[in-house]
Amino acid sequence: MSRILVTGAAGFLGSFLCDRLLEDGHEVIGMDNRVSGQTENLEDAFYHDRFTLYEHDVTEFIHISGELDAVLHLASLASPVFYRDHPIKTLKVGALGTHKTLGLAKEKDATYLFTSTSEVYGDPEVNPQPESYRGNVDPYGPRSCYDESKRYGESLVRAYRDKHELDVRVARIFNTYGPRMRLDDGRVIPNFMKQALTGEDLTVYGDGEQTRSFCYVSDLIDGLVALLESDVEEPVNIGNPDERSINELAEIVLEVTGSDSGITHEELPPQDPQVRRPDISKVRSELGWEPEVSLRDGLRKSLGYFEERV
Ligand SMILES: NC(=O)c1ccc[n+]([C@@H]2O[C@H](COP(=O)([O-])OP(=O)(O)OC[C@H]3O[C@@H](n4cnc5c(N)ncnc54)[C@H](O)[C@@H]3O)[C@@H](O)[C@H]2O)c1
Repeated sequence: MSRILVTGAAGFLGSFLCDRLLEDGHEVIGMDNRVSGQTENLEDAFYHDRFTLYEHDVTEFIHISGELDAVLHLASLASPVFYRDHPIKTLKVGALGTHKTLGLAKEKDATYLFTSTSEVYGDPEVNPQPESYRGNVDPYGPRSCYDESKRYGESLVRAYRDKHELDVRVARIFNTYGPRMRLDDGRVIPNFMKQALTGEDLTVYGDGEQTRSFCYVSDLIDGLVALLESDVEEPVNIGNPDERSINELAEIVLEVTGSDSGITHEELPPQDPQVRRPDISKVRSELGWEPEVSLRDGLRKSLGYFEERV
């Protein structure tokens, strides 16, 4: 059994990761300031006496008594709506929060896992995006608080690896969806599910021909655990390469929900990436991981959750 700190534990991915680590027999300390997370996501985790939750802001000094085997840093503002509302908090959690959690990992001689993002590639000029692609990010653009905080975070992780020989992992996560996503967080799948289930028109930004690749949450969690258990210290893309246009996604959501909602188009937000698809050759060859849940199946698995919430 290992003793593991998970920051961002009350969030969408953090809570599923806590559940998985507890199922695997570990002791888990969750940390969250609930700026976007919800304690109810941790209902299953609280059944285990090996789980504790600390309400704490990771940009402040962190003290944990006793040993730690791993520090998994998921805390962040993670959806466009939240990071547009809280740009300074977003920069602070990616910069100061990553610094504080790296310091803790160094003190405890723990393995450190950083959850980076496909947004480090910005509006990419190559598709699919391999890890070697250096990205196309506007440092002064409307999305830069998120993109640049994660790019800075990766750089800090690299510096701790080189300078302090810290054992590190970097996951570049591509769009992931499933139960426990907030209906108001502005990401496209909760938006469409809510609109389809309440009979509203689905809002498509721009002409809807921009693409995304959607990974179901259980696949993503398997990938994160496989990365943690590996010795791969370079960044690794984790996502589903099944690329779909937003128009296609809208049609599939209408089919899965059985909704007769229509579709309306609104202006595309500035600097919205035109394409997004992970090249997963590296994670396939080095970790033997690949996603198993199709988009239709993942949406069907999520349907009950969204029906309860609307
Ligand atoms: N879900 C995705 O599609 C996706 C894609 C790429 C990267 N990621 C990354 O994965 C991680 C988890 O994302 P998520 O989708 O679960 O987001 P989420 O918003 O559901 O969870 C993030 C959690 O971090 C917490 N948090 C934020 N700032 C904090 C602070 N200063 N101190 C303590 N806690 C804080 C929030 O309260 C929330 O519970 C994030 O780092 C995100 O950038 C997610």
